[in-house]
Amino acid sequence: MRSTSHAAEPTRLLDEPVCLHRLTDPVLHAEGDPHRVWRWMRHHAPVLRHPDGDLPAFWSLTRYEDVRAVYRDPETFSSRRGVLLRPAHRGEDPGGGMTLALTDPPRHRQLRAVVAGWFTTRSVRWLEESMRDSVRAILARVVDEPVVDFVQDVAGRLSMYLIGSIMGVAEHDHEKLFRWTNEAFEAGVSLAAHQELMHYFIGLMERRLVEPADDLVSALLGGTIDGALLTEEEVLLNCENIVGATENGRLAIAGGMAAFLARPDQWERLGADRSLLPTAVEEVLRWTSSATHSMRTATRDCVIRDQRIAAGDRVVLWVASANRDEDVFVSPDHFDIGRTPNRHLALGIGEHFCLGATLARAQMRILYSELLDRIRLIEPAGPAHRVRSIAVAGPETLPIRLTLR
Ligand code: HEM
Repeated sequence: MRSTSHAAEPTRLLDEPVCLHRLTDPVLHAEGDPHRVWRWMRHHAPVLRHPDGDLPAFWSLTRYEDVRAVYRDPETFSSRRGVLLRPAHRGEDPGGGMTLALTDPPRHRQLRAVVAGWFTTRSVRWLEESMRDSVRAILARVVDEPVVDFVQDVAGRLSMYLIGSIMGVAEHDHEKLFRWTNEAFEAGVSLAAHQELMHYFIGLMERRLVEPADDLVSALLGGTIDGALLTEEEVLLNCENIVGATENGRLAIAGGMAAFLARPDQWERLGADRSLLPTAVEEVLRWTSSATHSMRTATRDCVIRDQRIAAGDRVVLWVASANRDEDVFVSPDHFDIGRTPNRHLALGIGEHFCLGATLARAQMRILYSELLDRIRLIEPAGPAHRVRSIAVAGPETLPIRLTLR
């Protein structure tokens, strides 16, 4: 692997002035260094109130311990009113009370039981061979290209093919789904692509209602809670939730590749010792923290550290900050594929722990090992750009050149 930069990570002073309001500016996340702001907040204001602005007022939590505690207390911190910051003029998320991400216990557990079987270690192990085939097909398709956009051509395609197969999307429709999802969920949300995606799933649901198959859409359609079938709206919104969540997979895979390009010694280390694959995947998850934040709404008055949170207040858990908390991680700004322990929160924790965690880990492990087996040299082939978002992080484009062994 050839490096994009060999620069040592600078040691920054904690008392450097930072502009806190910029934390909600997507430009900071795309072009600046949000970690500088989070580092300051962890030390000076770990529970910080942001006033009303484009976004409704909210509390920021930046320390690991606080983020973990809120994730683990769904009775006090509800997901029902939204789990991502969104501008006040867009109102509440339409999936509130209906999708996995946006329901609270006990309904959340019942809904999760409808789909969980598709994402267990056993189910994912069963899928591993077809994942390997998908990876090989994807690499074969791009390997002769002079420049490959690793985000779209490799990571995005892989994430979409896998979730498409699980949901019951026909193989010849994977590319279509891939295109619409890119357009629908990317930072500049495209309404047209979103509608196409919804129409596609309505069509798939209609076909599965007549003739159920062994797939996730059929499982949702046949799923019951307290003896009642899910409504068609619930099925559709959950399909959208699950497909949309795979964006995180794409960003984490591609963010991992960007990290390896910046630190080629770590890629070489992995190539020399494949037993490091599991810890490397965990470090990529921690390092990239592609789900930048999760949000909750307090259901009752409570106190976090010395701050009084009122019922109805929004509380934002900055996962990316928690994963660099120096009280928990040794040299947190160092990318170390052998890091142990590594109890990062990149996939959340508790009630809403990422449904696709096993799948995400397996696809990264398989992709990295296939790249190490087949590709002799991975080189940067142009400037990379990061996504403009406060909800997800990672490369928007990552041009690379691949040379076969
Ligand atoms: C590396 C990639 C991924 C990351 C970093 C990630 C991150 C997360 C996080 C932080 C949460 C918790 C959100 C919260 O508590 O509010 C979550 C939940 C979820 N994730 Fe992932 N995710 C990834 C991949 C995937 C994939 C591939 C799928 C596809 C099935 C998926 C589906 C979901 C779903 C459906 C939930 C909601 C679960 C629930 O509320 O019970 N994720 N994910």
